Parts: sequence; C-alpha cells; structure tokens
Amino acid sequence: MNKSIAFTGKGGVGKTTCLILFLKFLIENKKDYRILVIDADPDANIADVIGKKIHFKDTIAGKMTNLRIKIEKNILYPYKDKKQAMEAEIFNCFLHVEAFDVIEMGRTEGEGCYCSVNNVLKNALDIISENYDLVLVDTPAGLEHFARKTGKDVSDLMIIVDPSKMAFHTLKRILEISKEVSLKFKNYWVLGNRFSTDNKEILIKKLNFLDKVEIKLLGFIPEDKEIMNYNLFAKNLLNLSNENPAYKSVKEIFKKFI
Ligand SMILES: Nc1ncnc2c1ncn2[C@@H]1O[C@H](COP(=O)(O)OP(=O)(O)O)[C@@H](O)[C@H]1O
Ligand SMILES: [Mg+2]
Repeated sequence: MNKSIAFTGKGGVGKTTCLILFLKFLIENKKDYRILVIDADPDANIADVIGKKIHFKDTIAGKMTNLRIKIEKNILYPYKDKKQAMEAEIFNCFLHVEAFDVIEMGRTEGEGCYCSVNNVLKNALDIISENYDLVLVDTPAGLEHFARKTGKDVSDLMIIVDPSKMAFHTLKRILEISKEVSLKFKNYWVLGNRFSTDNKEILIKKLNFLDKVEIKLLGFIPEDKEIMNYNLFAKNLLNLSNENPAYKSVKEIFKKFI
C-alpha cells in the first residue's frame, strides 16, 4: 500500500465531504488505483453521502455482535476457533462500489465489544489494506481514538478545519494528543473548508503559532451552496458537477497527492 490518510477534525467541519470529494478526484484521475474507504465514525455516513445503504448487520460491529451470539451458543462451525471466525467475518464486510470498496465499522452495542476484537480487527485491516494503493479513513469526531492509538498505521493525517474557534481548538488538541501518546504520522496536513478569501489569513496566522509538529497547509475549499444542497436532497456527492467551484479547489489541492 502506498498511503493511508485519516480525515479528522471537529464534528461537522466537513471530514466526510472532503474525503468524498478527494475520492471523486481519484476515481476520475487515477482509474488504476485500488481504493479502500474505511468509515470508522460510529455515526457513519459515507454510504449515505454516495447514495448507498449499509445495514448494521453488514458493518464490522454488526458482524461482531452476530458472532458473539454464535460464540455464546457455542456454534462456531465452520470455523475452528474464535479468531478464525472473526477474521472471516471481517473479510466479509465489503461494500463494492465500481471503483472502490467501503468498510463500515458501525456502532458497537454494549460496552467492551471492540476491546475483545481490536487486535484481530487491526491485523485483519492491515492485511486487507495491503491489497490497496490508497486507504482513506473517515474518523469519529472525538479525540478518544487518538488516545487509543487506533490511527497507528495511518501515514497521513488530514486535519479539516472550518473558520470557527472550536475547529482551531480541536486542531490544537489533535496535535497535542498525538504528541502526548507518541503517535507519529508521516505527514500532518491541514485543510481549510468553508473559507472565504477574507478569513484565510486567520488560519495561516494561527498555523504559524503551532510549530510543535511539522504541519503543512494543503489549501482551502470555499463554502458552496451546491454541496449543501447535495446533502439536503440526499444526492450522491460523487456526481457533483466537475465545474463546481469547491470541487475545482479540491482538484488543485489534491493534485499534490497523486
Ligand atoms: N465546503 C462546503 N460548502 C457547503 N457545505 C459544506 C461544505 N463542506 C461541508 N458542508 C456541509 O456541512 C455538513 C457537515 O459536513 P460533513 O462532511 O458531514 O462533516 P463531518 O464529516 O466533519 O461531520 C454537511 O451538510 C455538508 O454538506
Ligand atoms: Mg462525517
């Protein structure tokens, strides 16, 4: 695998939107790329944004819940043990869309569900990821997953900020926490979403103060009414017009990645 990029930032800043627009750019320009999208947000909406439906039973959490019931009833057949059964279930979790695959982690029901499967899951995802040129991860809005180091094998961190005090604060906290728990990413990118010409300078200035890690400002995506309406009217964001001004910025910004 070449790269894995985790999209992170405060809730509602545009993580999912930016990931999908990047995906659109890749599909249109890198037809030979094998891409995996992992929706790691319990409040998952990758499938939704591209006009698909993933049922709970087809998410990792759903498969694990189902498996737990089987384990309790002692029916693991045809698998020889719990680990083998878990792996098989995880490998069974793909939604194949023409040019890419999606795995949805789903929301765990009850406490501790993930703890028991975390290692198997991590190993299985590592093996799965080997088959792709690029893995895009949509992360949950909170910061706990950083503290739990679930992003350990991600090469690039894409921190999305919108022009709000809270988004800047989350950006700062992400950098602090990743330092505290010694999480090292190859690249720390910052992407400004919903920025106007006037408030770009504020972000640039703020970033100059944050010299703790080497963060690179990738660029800015403007606020866009069509994107808003695509969401409101449940239209597949991959079908956004190529002439859309926000998508034009996305194309410019992500050229650096391919
Ligand atoms: N550049 C933009 N212009 C207009 N609306 C946007 C833009 N980026 C995101 N949005 C809208 O903001 C909302 C939250 O975006 P989303 O990508 O779901 O955020 P997150 O994944 O960070 O929670 C959605 O309704 C989305 O359509
Ligand atoms: Mg999201």
